[in-house]
Amino acid sequence: MSTNGVDTANSDQGLAQDIRITDRITDRITDRERIVAVLTDPAYTVPEPPQDGVPGTLAWLRASASRFANGDAHQMRRERVQAELSGLAACDLSEMAAVRTRARCANSDAGASNCIDAIAFHVPVAVLAEALGFAEPERMPALVGVVAPSYFTGEGTQATDAAVQELLAAATADAPGVDTALARVSILIQSYDATGRLIERAVGWAARADPGMSVEAILDEVLRLAPPVAVLRRQDSVGRIVEIDVTSAEFSGASEQYDGQPPLTFGFGERRCPGISESIDIATGVVSAIRADLRNRAGRRNSADRRNSGEA
Ligand code: HEM
Repeated sequence: MSTNGVDTANSDQGLAQDIRITDRITDRITDRERIVAVLTDPAYTVPEPPQDGVPGTLAWLRASASRFANGDAHQMRRERVQAELSGLAACDLSEMAAVRTRARCANSDAGASNCIDAIAFHVPVAVLAEALGFAEPERMPALVGVVAPSYFTGEGTQATDAAVQELLAAATADAPGVDTALARVSILIQSYDATGRLIERAVGWAARADPGMSVEAILDEVLRLAPPVAVLRRQDSVGRIVEIDVTSAEFSGASEQYDGQPPLTFGFGERRCPGISESIDIATGVVSAIRADLRNRAGRRNSADRRNSGEA
């Protein structure tokens, strides 16, 4: 999958892809027991970006986000994110996503079939932006699309910094402080790629699945067997990087011990993704609406074919 020209197929939710980090990779873990041990061991941390970014830039955003912080700073920033997400409980995110998806399908002559990518990487961010009170929610996906590929690498341009500034301004439409704006912007950025890929893969999965399979079951299979986030990374106390292979872990022996836990593609332990229910609700709304559009159009095509062939 490519978003804005950046290949994200193997992207992780984390660490800078810079040469120093890649050179420091010393281990790749594929066994679920070991993965859980590393992700719950406080000795393994996330590498922190430089803390000298000018306010309002990508560098400053990364230095201020929960995603790249450890210890107390991580906990405090994560609580702000969770507070913003808990405010969404009153919203029917699934329905909001379905309404937007249906509108996009209706605006396209070929319906969902020629705009799945545009829906997958637009609707989730627009829905979250509206629910979080951003100004001009429909404009936010394009801005997030500019920032998201650089968010994890730290390699931005002037255009990235300009998009960060616009996002922060839109996040303060109802005049919250800068910390709340940061939490809101980080929620949009974190949701973008992973939820977009989840939707794309689920639509592909649905095309091959038993037509009676529910969207919830399809999402569950995709999350475990074709995970949108395939690799996590941590560093040990001497700075060696450990890669965590989420896909292999779902197939490795001990997984039955974790029945009822969200799949590892959402991470594990105190850094586990805080947007699990939101992403599943939104993906359910989008995929259900796309599936309905594809079925309706196929049904109409079949009826037309039968009429044209004179079939009774
Ligand atoms: C509505 C959609 C989503 C939102 C709002 C969201 C939000 C977030 C946030 C704020 C973090 C940082 C947490 C922290 O620093 O403690 C995070 C981390 C993460 N998210 Fe999500 N996310 C979403 C969708 C997804 C999806 C669909 C996946 C994968 C299927 C995913 C996987 C992850 C992972 C793996 C991490 C990092 C875990 C780690 O490194 O330990 N997220 N997410």
